Amino acid sequence: MLKTHTCGELRAEHAGQTVTLAGWVNRRRDQGGLIFIDLRDRWGITQVTIDQATAPDAHAIADQVRSEYVIQVTGTVRLRPAGMENPAMDTGEIEVEASAMVILNPAKTTPFLIYSDDKLDEALRLKYRYLDLRRQRMQRNIILRHRVVKYIRDFLDRKGFVEIETPILFKTTPEGARDYLVPSRVHPGQFYALPQSPQQLKQLLMVAGYERYFQIARCFRDEDQRGDRQPEFTQLDLEMSFVEREDIMALIEEMMTGIVEQVSDRQLVTKPFPRIKHHDALEKYGSDKPDLRYNLEWVDVSALAAASSFGVFQESVRAGNKVKAMRIPGGAAGQSNSQLKKLHQELEALARDKGAKGLAWLTPAEDPGGEPRGSIARFFSPEQAAALFAQLGAAPGDLILFVTDTPAIVYAVQDAIRRDVAERMGLADPRQIAFGWIIDFPLFEWNAEENRWDPSHHLFTAPMPEDLPLLDTDPGRARGQQYDLCCNGYEVAGGSIRIHRREVQEKIFGLIGLDLAVARERFGHMLEAFEYGTPPHGGIAPGIDRLVMLLAGEANIREVMAFPKSQQAADLMAGAPSPVEPKQLEELHISLLNNA
Ligand code: AMO
Ligand code: AMP
Repeated sequence: MLKTHTCGELRAEHAGQTVTLAGWVNRRRDQGGLIFIDLRDRWGITQVTIDQATAPDAHAIADQVRSEYVIQVTGTVRLRPAGMENPAMDTGEIEVEASAMVILNPAKTTPFLIYSDDKLDEALRLKYRYLDLRRQRMQRNIILRHRVVKYIRDFLDRKGFVEIETPILFKTTPEGARDYLVPSRVHPGQFYALPQSPQQLKQLLMVAGYERYFQIARCFRDEDQRGDRQPEFTQLDLEMSFVEREDIMALIEEMMTGIVEQVSDRQLVTKPFPRIKHHDALEKYGSDKPDLRYNLEWVDVSALAAASSFGVFQESVRAGNKVKAMRIPGGAAGQSNSQLKKLHQELEALARDKGAKGLAWLTPAEDPGGEPRGSIARFFSPEQAAALFAQLGAAPGDLILFVTDTPAIVYAVQDAIRRDVAERMGLADPRQIAFGWIIDFPLFEWNAEENRWDPSHHLFTAPMPEDLPLLDTDPGRARGQQYDLCCNGYEVAGGSIRIHRREVQEKIFGLIGLDLAVARERFGHMLEAFEYGTPPHGGIAPGIDRLVMLLAGEANIREVMAFPKSQQAADLMAGAPSPVEPKQLEELHISLLNNA
């Protein structure tokens, strides 16, 4: 080794020892006869002092080095002079007094400072990703990711799971996004599809008798990018045989609890994980991935709202819609009328953005005998207002928001307003982790365009046993044995108990308008496999990127991926995708359209 210790290792107890360190020059301060270098490696930073009087050769070299030079230093560990210790640094008690220094490699001036956490242009960061990854924050994130994955592997190994790799060159999978295709040279005109997940293969591994399978699996989906979506991402893909929904949920709950409490420095605030029915999640939060770190909830106030003299509410309820209200505890406390008006304007703009025609507000009187304030105060008699405040448990200082429209718009507004208010009021503590299970999803969603049912998860999800008859009579009411895990407002895992009986599977194909011949062409291998003794089975797939993002307190999964794609699905460092040689296209039997 070119070093005896890491740059994060030396303490007071090492004083007097001769050591050799190697790493990057984080910062250099020149005080004439004395040069200070903060030497950095993956483990930390150590201050090196180079004294012209005692080490003239080393000093001459230190004179030449600049930020990000790679150097090796030999010297003696000594306690820093009293009062010069730096408690903010792990190695802040000591410094290394250099006797020799070697420049292992110089460095050009980097396009951004490595030691600073300042916000940088992301395109620049992605272009020089290897320098971006050198920054402490990224190193922390990437190492956290390693520790999470290591915990998962150890945990599942203890539970009797086998890690099995499945192919990347495969066939279209049923997750519903667009496929990435790979042309075949050997089979002209034919294509592999990259897996959107190993869904089919893990079910086949159950048919194959492995009973407990997992994989840290790369998945590929050609869909629009968002902060929590990448074209290639990583799942913990997992499947078990002879299980029921409860078994999978208990396993994941134990694993996630262990990850948060033993690997991260976050605080788990939901123990046990609450379970919320899909329909209730929409009604209360307007979202099937609610942020449960704070308990803002929407309530149906249709009856009292329709009894007021506000025409909008009356008509909307008459048309079959609901009026929803959310109480923000203390949301109006100490706010002047003009402050409240401004807040309301901003929130209303957000509601309109989601398609609503307005957003009403109300706050109870501050003083006894006073009058409620708000954009719809004039439509409520004192008794009606009192009944409304009683239903919502509203006290002086609370702010109440109202919306009414069709369910889809109301849900969108509920979700957006809830997140926005929590953000403004600082209710979403980034150090907290709040998981929740969403259960009892509808098995299907109606696709009006295609005039058929679409699976709301994927087409292998089993119906709830008691809802099986509904497949014939009222498919829209059938619930699936599906479970999603939400965390801090994101969906971090999705899974289900699978159909293991052929006649049920064929019925589902029928309902989603998948012709049996087409189903055989796409999934024939599965249908056939299911005839050779298939155990009841189920599984789940947590998204590793999203989970680590939340554990790291980041707002974008790119911050926890070593080499992510840009918003436009490009690798800005290597320049991918890129044109290829005509000869390569020819070998693949591909000709490009003129506009490509
Ligand atoms: P699903 O499609 O719900 O289920 O995906 C599981 C989890 O993967 C993560 N995820 C993503 N993360 C980053 N970028 C993306 N583009 C992306 N898409 C999904 C999410 C999500 O919860 N085969 C089933 C699982 C099963 O039934 O066992 C599946 O893939 O965190
Ligand atoms: P107006 O009588 O037009 O001044 O409206 C009174 C309040 O009702 C305003 O704050 C509007 O934003 C609000 N409002 C209008 N339409 C709706 C709606 N569909 N849902 C909730 N509030 C609404």
